[in-house]
Amino acid sequence: MKAVDHVRRIVRLTGEFFEDRWFDLTRNVRTSGDTSLLAAGIAAEDFHDSEYYVPARPRHIRQALREMPVQDVTGFSYVDLGSGKGRTLFVAAELPFKQIIGVELSCLLHQQACANIHSFRSSTQGCRHITSLHQNAKDFTFPEGHIVLYLFNPFGSATMQCVLNNLKASLQRRPCHIIIILLWPRCGDQVAAIEGMHLRCETRQYQIFEVHTS
Ligand SMILES: C[S@@+](CC[C@H](N)C(=O)[O-])C[C@H]1O[C@@H](n2cnc3c(N)ncnc32)[C@H](O)[C@@H]1O
Repeated sequence: MKAVDHVRRIVRLTGEFFEDRWFDLTRNVRTSGDTSLLAAGIAAEDFHDSEYYVPARPRHIRQALREMPVQDVTGFSYVDLGSGKGRTLFVAAELPFKQIIGVELSCLLHQQACANIHSFRSSTQGCRHITSLHQNAKDFTFPEGHIVLYLFNPFGSATMQCVLNNLKASLQRRPCHIIIILLWPRCGDQVAAIEGMHLRCETRQYQIFEVHTS
């Protein structure tokens, strides 16, 4: 690696470090820092299809939320599958969602998310109904009504397929409007394969899909 690339990398990492700490400090939460699967207490049999905790950068989450093909989110539930310590729940809470739900496999990370929900303070809070569930995303039952589903590479394709099958089943049960945000997307093909799903926006950092059923 050339010296200039080293300098660029150091500048980027320093910027990310301060952005993370600033977010936590100003919201009275502790969402920064990676946590390995082992440290998070995830069972060995789940290692093969689980990703470890790396919080997304607040500015990337906000950019993706701004690109959603809806202006008024008051009728939408926001769901983050693999929510870790809850970083994205607090970014989503800047908007007036009907409710915000995080689903996390690790009991330890879920407990940290609950502590963060309790301590969270923000002058720009638009949603006060924030919940963390300790659950495997495969077993999550989607709430009724319109949904913004956010995923930042929490698991591999096998778990993803179970989640999408559950989502398809709930789409068939009742009419709704679903928006799916994939941050640093790896499983866009699986989402795109759902009948009626449309890719609405694509950048290097995220893909946004939408489906309406009636
Ligand atoms: C890359 S982190 C994403 C954290 C957070 N969503 C964000 O964007 O800042 C992936 C998270 O998914 C969780 N996870 C992995 N497999 C899971 C599963 N099957 N069900 C629920 N959570 C899972 C991990 O414990 C980890 O916290």
